Amino acid sequence: MAFGSTTGMNESRKLYVKSFGCQMNVYDSRRMADTLAPEGFVETAEAGDADLVILNTCHIREKAAEKVYSELGRLRRMKEAAAAQGRRMLVAVAGCVAQAEGQEIIRRAPSVDLVFGPQNYHRLPELVARAERGGQAVDTEFALEDKFDHLAPPSRAAIRARGASAFVTVQEGCDKFCTFCVVPYTRGAEVSRPVEKVVAEVTHLATAGVREITLIGQNVNAYHGEGSDGRIWSLRRLLDRIAQIDGVERLRYTTSHPRDMDNDLITAHRDLPQLMPQLHLPVQSGADRILRAMNRRHSRADYLDIVRRLRDARPDLALTSDFIVGFPGETERDFADTLALVEEVGFSGAFSFKYSPRPGTPGAEMDDQISEQEKSERLQRLQWTIDRNQAAFNHSCRGRTFDVLFEKPGRHEGQLVGRSPYLQPVQVQAPASLIGEIAAVTITEVASNSLFGVLAHQPRAASRAMQVPASEPGLLRAGA
Ligand code: SAH
Ligand code: SF4
Ligand code: F3S
Repeated sequence: MAFGSTTGMNESRKLYVKSFGCQMNVYDSRRMADTLAPEGFVETAEAGDADLVILNTCHIREKAAEKVYSELGRLRRMKEAAAAQGRRMLVAVAGCVAQAEGQEIIRRAPSVDLVFGPQNYHRLPELVARAERGGQAVDTEFALEDKFDHLAPPSRAAIRARGASAFVTVQEGCDKFCTFCVVPYTRGAEVSRPVEKVVAEVTHLATAGVREITLIGQNVNAYHGEGSDGRIWSLRRLLDRIAQIDGVERLRYTTSHPRDMDNDLITAHRDLPQLMPQLHLPVQSGADRILRAMNRRHSRADYLDIVRRLRDARPDLALTSDFIVGFPGETERDFADTLALVEEVGFSGAFSFKYSPRPGTPGAEMDDQISEQEKSERLQRLQWTIDRNQAAFNHSCRGRTFDVLFEKPGRHEGQLVGRSPYLQPVQVQAPASLIGEIAAVTITEVASNSLFGVLAHQPRAASRAMQVPASEPGLLRAGA
């Protein structure tokens, strides 16, 4: 069959998009699907059926990047099977590996038809048409135009299918250059979207029934977007504005850098009832020596001071974080400082990673690389400490009553699963009409990965029910 013109199609074609990365990567995947929808592409859950398969890749750690090539091996066989049936399957590699490796991907995996970076996917219809005309297409130039101006908005049906919680990108890229990290190279310099564009997108989502908005960015709290008054707005001002939009009942933002956690933003946690009492604030290490070598540009004491001020502003705030173990030069004593920091803060959860030297970053060139065995051993000890903290936090929720946003049917008949303000999954006996709604729940039991509760009040008749996807992790692990 032909992948004809880019201007409207009546024949439907199947699209399969798979995300390998962070929240921004997931958001980009959705926007790719939105942009291809007017071209007649309909999403399918089976890669084997698809006319176009897009792998939206992550470059953050070696494991994440290598996963792409094993996936491409599988796709090559699917592509051959499709060809044997007289069907053409296009294979595209998008995202941060595409940005970092470009043409090299086609050299290693010649069955790939298309390679494009995170700043180029608004050109997808044109790129797909080009690949269809024969030949391969690579587009990893940082685009001069704003991709957001060229993306089709999601249809109401797409919004409903994705559930009552949505991500909205407000900021992209990074100027911080931590010495372990590839993001400044794969995503480019920091750019913030103008306030009115963000407001329009959130309004569109809220009108279609979305109740919870998470503003996302690699450094979301470095947001400095142009406001309608022509001035530069901070994330605090943006949050104030978004909180006024009808239907936005819950607000979150992620991921934040400690350096940009200013007082205005801290007090937003006191002033804005929609802002959920949970914050992801990666610290990476508890040792000043290592923080310096990582170029994080804050100390352990700075971090603890921010945590104290946040908890003064919002006493029920729960914190989550990211950690790297085995950064070059990390001694047992430095690592002990990290464990002590976890205990001191009492995180409600955290992701921890073994340091992965990434080509082109200063960390990869440093002396004193830590052995794989040492990294594994430290990772295990850190994870054990984090798990204990998380279990203690979950147990402290027993007997509490808080609002749950219901997402989908639960494991058992008559059960729904929703998210607490702290993003924990909560299983509750509740009518299906509550899907997409918020209701107060009293927590009665705590298991390792979820909470169980009962509705605190008889449900009022739900006004809007939503259909939701099968799984939607609240706290996504970048390139897990
Ligand atoms: N902008 C965010 C982090 C984005 S990357 C911040 O500054 O906090 C997500 C997480 O991946 C990081 O917090 C870090 O813990 C981890 N990470 C990044 N590069 C890594 C590397 N080279 N090896 C191991 N983990 C890494
Ligand atoms: Fe990477 Fe975050 Fe550091 Fe930027 S601030 S270089 S995204 S870890
Ligand atoms: Fe890119 Fe996100 Fe991974 S910015 S490198 S997809 S963590």
